[in-house]
Amino acid sequence: PQTREYNFTVEMVQGAPDGVSRTMLVVNGMYPGPTIEVNQADRLVVNVQNNLPNTTSIHWHGLFQNGTNWYDGTSGITECGIPPGQSLTYNFTLGEFSGTTWWHAHFSTQYTDGITGPLIVHPTAPSPPGLPQWDEELVVHMADWYHDLSADLLDAYLSPFGIDGTQGDEPVPDGGMLNGLGQYFAAGTGGSYFNFTLQRNKTYRLRLINSGSFASVRFSVDGHPLTLIEADGTLISPTPLAGITLAVAQRYSVLLHANATGSPNSTYWMRAAVQSDMFTYDQPGQNLDIRGIIRYDDASPSGLPGDPASADPGSGAQGLQDVDGTTALVPLVADPAPNFTVAFPIVFDFQNTDDGRFLGFINSSSWEPLKGQSTLLAVLGSPSGYAPVGSSVATGDQLIATVDSIQVVDIRVDNLDDGDHPFHLHGHRPWIMGAGAGRYIGQSLNVTNPLRRDTILIPAYSWMVLRFVTDNPGLWAFHCHLAWHMAAGLLMQFNSLPSTLAGMDVPADIVAQCKAAK
Ligand code: C2O
Repeated sequence: PQTREYNFTVEMVQGAPDGVSRTMLVVNGMYPGPTIEVNQADRLVVNVQNNLPNTTSIHWHGLFQNGTNWYDGTSGITECGIPPGQSLTYNFTLGEFSGTTWWHAHFSTQYTDGITGPLIVHPTAPSPPGLPQWDEELVVHMADWYHDLSADLLDAYLSPFGIDGTQGDEPVPDGGMLNGLGQYFAAGTGGSYFNFTLQRNKTYRLRLINSGSFASVRFSVDGHPLTLIEADGTLISPTPLAGITLAVAQRYSVLLHANATGSPNSTYWMRAAVQSDMFTYDQPGQNLDIRGIIRYDDASPSGLPGDPASADPGSGAQGLQDVDGTTALVPLVADPAPNFTVAFPIVFDFQNTDDGRFLGFINSSSWEPLKGQSTLLAVLGSPSGYAPVGSSVATGDQLIATVDSIQVVDIRVDNLDDGDHPFHLHGHRPWIMGAGAGRYIGQSLNVTNPLRRDTILIPAYSWMVLRFVTDNPGLWAFHCHLAWHMAAGLLMQFNSLPSTLAGMDVPADIVAQCKAAK
């Protein structure tokens, strides 16, 4: 094991990753930010200097933070946020997670403006039988993209008038990014393409990340069938497919064998097709395919692939289907769920408030972060003089489910909304025990080989049962990962093992940060 140390400076810059200049919030002047690459047994130390005029915090999506809940990076929950001009050092071991993930700001909608990057954790355990081999790895970091600062878009979205007078309609992306280069949707516009150079006949593991804020993206490569092997850190029984759709915050690994022929320049489009089913985009001539270029080492250095309008999955891909990432993936290694002991039913939807806003509600509670506080310190009580929040459920705007013993919890979710929502549980990789249309009324669950993943798309008007074990002390957010929806309150917390947490030492800098924020 090693200690891997990174220095992050968060700052405001001008950038034009799709050709349109805007103010961006980035780490170390880069978009995407630095790739963190570690081995599972390592310690990760990230010194974050905040040079923004606002608070920030950095979250390590999908990591368990077992024993270090205070470094989960969730503003208002596990920390108070790094004040402008100040710094915080995150320092933790990786623990249970290995695979493809990402880091991002976790303060309001800040990551939408560019504070994100890949996080790759190489496993300690040897590869299980049945996992195919590959020669090289490439990271494909994709996102929808806006031309305005997210704070301004959020104000309009949450105002009683909504955007363009329609309350509840989320900001519509202007375009998209693939490894920090992209194109925008309006007709006749430019942008640029990220280029991957591949060696003919090698096999590549492409680590796909949807780091976006709102839209799902469908990933495919012209001329190349793909083989799916990983979903959010869970190895998948190798599944051939033509393309795969990633909801916001989901990750996949696919294998690509570089043996295609037929393109005149030995170049092929890589596509991140922005799925527009969640919004209406009505400019004529729009192209919702965000593209990158695969260029074989025998290709001419400047030629472009053929017609961007005709996606072609290539020979060997005929008849291959996309697969559903919630119900159709089979784990390569069976990891059976324990029997449940406690059920926690939730319903969520969007409603108007008395003051005319339109917010997300989970069990009648819409989250707003405690001002200048963190739930972690509030639950612990005194280190900085806060009163403990109620022992079980809602206190003010906080829906907090507290379990002070090791239990197996079934979150029984009813989505009463007309949209699909990618929910993420911090600190865990829950089992997807069942899902279907309508309400949960005790339908039978999949106990044989359920998939575990940390970000799960819950379709409109459907139910889902997610199972996890409360063996990780701390405050764990469970929220819709659409940036606009989290900011609109679609978030609750699980407070696991508070008595154990009370016996642990919260680092002095986490406590001091809350005192400074107060
Ligand atoms: Cu990707 Cu609450 O996090």
